[in-house]
Amino acid sequence: MLISLLRRYRRTAAGPRWYRVVYRLVYRLGLTVWQRPAPPADLIKLVEGPSALAPGRALDLGCGTGVDTIYLAGRGWDVTAIDMVPQALAAARRHATAAGATAGFIAPRFIHGDVTRLHDLGAGGGFGLLVDFGCLHTLPEDRRPAYVASVTHAAAPGAMLLLYGFSRPPKAAPMHAGLTIEEVWQRFSPAGWQLLSAERTSAETLGMRVRRADDRFELWCYQLQRRPS
Ligand SMILES: C[S@@+](CC[C@H](N)C(=O)[O-])C[C@H]1O[C@@H](n2cnc3c(N)ncnc32)[C@H](O)[C@@H]1O
Repeated sequence: MLISLLRRYRRTAAGPRWYRVVYRLVYRLGLTVWQRPAPPADLIKLVEGPSALAPGRALDLGCGTGVDTIYLAGRGWDVTAIDMVPQALAAARRHATAAGATAGFIAPRFIHGDVTRLHDLGAGGGFGLLVDFGCLHTLPEDRRPAYVASVTHAAAPGAMLLLYGFSRPPKAAPMHAGLTIEEVWQRFSPAGWQLLSAERTSAETLGMRVRRADDRFELWCYQLQRRPS
C-alpha cells in the first residue's frame, strides 16, 4: 500500500522534489548502500591503462562522498565534483582535505547543485572525462533531456563519459530509477555521443554495500564518447 502510494506520488509534479528529499534522508540515515571503497575498474583502466587518457579536466556528476573524485585528483586530474546533497559534499570535502597531502593531488572544486543545470552553476566546460556513478539512473524522467544537454555542453569534443546505472528499476524505489541500453542510445546519440561499450558489471565486484543488487537490478557500465566536432 505504502509502496504503491509512493510510486503514484513520484509520477506527480512533486516527484522531482520528493527524490531530492529521499537522497537527503538516505545520507542522513546512513543508508548509502551504493558506497564503494575504491573506484571502478573501468575508470582505473581509462586513467591508468595501456591507452590511458592524459590528465585534464574531469567532472564527477553526483559525486556523493567523493570516492571517484579523490581518486582522479590523486592522479593529476583537475576535478569538478557536483552533488545536490550538502551532507555528501561535506564528506567529500573532508576526504579531499585528508588526501590533500598526497604528492600530485590537485584540490578538487566542489559545487552544490543540480547536474541538469551545470551552466547556471558555473561548472564551466572543456571536460575531457566525465563520471556518473548512479546519478542519471535515478533522475526523474522529465529531467533527463536537461541532463543530456547540460553534460554535452560541459564535455569537450572527444570527451569520455563513464555512466553506471541499474538497468532494472527497483520496484519499491520511491523515485524513478533505471537506465537501459536503449535509453542511453536514444538520449545520447542525437546529442552527438557514440556508445562505445555497454557491459554488465557487478555491485559485489565493486564492493558496494548494497545486498543482492546483482540479481535484482543489473548494474551496467556504459562508456560513451562525445564525437569530435
Ligand atoms: C547513487 S549515489 C552515488 C554517489 C557517488 N557517485 C558514488 O558512487 O558513491 C547518486 C548521487 O547523485 C546525487 N544526485 C542525484 N541527482 C542529482 C542531481 N540532479 N544533481 C546533483 N546530484 C545528484 C545524489 O545526491 C547522490 O549523492
